[in-house]
Amino acid sequence: MNDYIVEMRHITKRFPGIIANNDVSIGIRKGEVYALLGENGAGKSTLMSMLFGMYEPDGGEILVKGKPVAFHSSTDAAACGIGMVHQHFKLVEPFTIAENIVLGTEPEEKKLGILPWVNIRKANRQISELSRTYGLEVNPTDRITDVPVSVRQRVEILKMLYRSAEIMIFDEPTAVLTPQEIDFLLKIIDNLRNGGKTIILITHKIAEIKRIADRCAILRQGRLIDVCDVAETSVQELADLMVGRQVQFTQEKTAPDFREPVLEVQHLTVKNEHRFDVVKDVSFSIRGGEIFAIAGVSGNGQGEIADAVAGLAKAASGRVLLNGKDITGLSVRDRCLAGLSYIPEDRQETGVIPDMTLQENLALREYYKPPFSRKGILHGEAFRSYADKLIGTYDIRCAQGPDTVLRSMSGGNQQKAIIGREIEEQSALIIFVQPTRGLDIGAIENIHRQILRERERGAAILLISLELEEIMALADTIGVLYRGELLKTEAAEKMSTQEVGRYMMGVRKA
Ligand SMILES: Nc1ncnc2c1ncn2[C@@H]1O[C@H](COP(=O)(O)OP(=O)(O)OP(=O)(O)O)[C@@H](O)[C@H]1O
Ligand SMILES: [Mg+2]
Repeated sequence: MNDYIVEMRHITKRFPGIIANNDVSIGIRKGEVYALLGENGAGKSTLMSMLFGMYEPDGGEILVKGKPVAFHSSTDAAACGIGMVHQHFKLVEPFTIAENIVLGTEPEEKKLGILPWVNIRKANRQISELSRTYGLEVNPTDRITDVPVSVRQRVEILKMLYRSAEIMIFDEPTAVLTPQEIDFLLKIIDNLRNGGKTIILITHKIAEIKRIADRCAILRQGRLIDVCDVAETSVQELADLMVGRQVQFTQEKTAPDFREPVLEVQHLTVKNEHRFDVVKDVSFSIRGGEIFAIAGVSGNGQGEIADAVAGLAKAASGRVLLNGKDITGLSVRDRCLAGLSYIPEDRQETGVIPDMTLQENLALREYYKPPFSRKGILHGEAFRSYADKLIGTYDIRCAQGPDTVLRSMSGGNQQKAIIGREIEEQSALIIFVQPTRGLDIGAIENIHRQILRERERGAAILLISLELEEIMALADTIGVLYRGELLKTEAAEKMSTQEVGRYMMGVRKA
């Protein structure tokens, strides 16, 4: 006997064209935080999906509490005390929080002794209790559509607790959170561990692993490379092990070469569906060759600014000019034709069509023009060769080349595909919202290099990021957004990280 609560022995999983997991063996001890680190596409989500019963391994065996198990569904895994918060949340949008949590395990009662009836009041009460115990505040009657990502994640965690999970898998839980929310989540994870839960944490952020994990397994191209004791391994060592080469944490930036203004935003006000001003009288301009970064805590209006510039949200008042032309009233496609590229925050919802292939997704900006379409006829060869080119340039890892269905690609590689598609347009203005969210450090290195190359080309770049480090590394000019207002706009070299952080909290005098 050993002290492992979970053991995965010689696990192999193949998908068409790729071995996602190749003879992987890991053992996880009860009550530890076990991290999984690896490049985008290394096989982390696949390995954990097997432990959660969503896929069955092609080879190898899984033991839970010393007993071999064969899960055919996640219901089987849940019955064994395993829970998982997925990289892309699995919630039913029109349902309430409580309905989502109890879904599949509804406390059913019989009215008048015969009529089956779900006692949602009782469920609401139980959920409120759980959320109080673990400090996971939610309002059970809110609908998922109306709540932000941080709350959605709490719902996913409550779902596991409601099912009394002992082994909790978190797949990149911090990728969608702000620094404050990350702090909070790491504390929750610590609480869960202290309460005897076993945690498996997939993350690209080595700092988080250093902070919270006991041990860390490193995967590369489907294989287990090493399992380290976190306290005894340095950040650089972990990074190098993961990528298989020396990682450069910062990029060289050339001296600025600013040109004419490309984007001018004048007195922009955007209202949300409740007629509340989420962007208030915001004005700024971005020159060619300039990276203008908007810093701010999530939910202060940055997404709405990006959407209003790109045409996905309506400006209640104010104007947006692109190369001197008023585009405020134009459709999204007309704005694109006027020279705008957009990497949106929610890549699954607005960035791609998950059920189409990679080559179709890569041509979404161009498919109706030659060489892709001539006289109304689509030309497959053009799609394919264009996709081949982008796959190379942007290091998009895909099992079946241009024919890979986008949904089957790893999260980070979907992101690389969108970025490649939008950069390739050579637009005058490129809007990047959280461009490196969920990417491994090797990929971040690559994307940052691409953004700087676009700046050198003379593009105007609007960068919206919650990562202060990313902003400080790339920006020429920083605008700090607080409650919908641009509190401070300043050349990046004149502001320290601490100052930006203070403005982000709404402190006007530094
Ligand atoms: N359902 C599927 N069908 C086909 N291929 C798949 C499927 N799921 C995963 N893959 C492939 O298996 C490989 C491993 O993917 P996985 O999602 O496990 O990576 P990951 O380590 O979680 O990456 P990321 O950090 O980007 O999320 C990838 O090449 C991916 O394209
Ligand atoms: Mg993954």
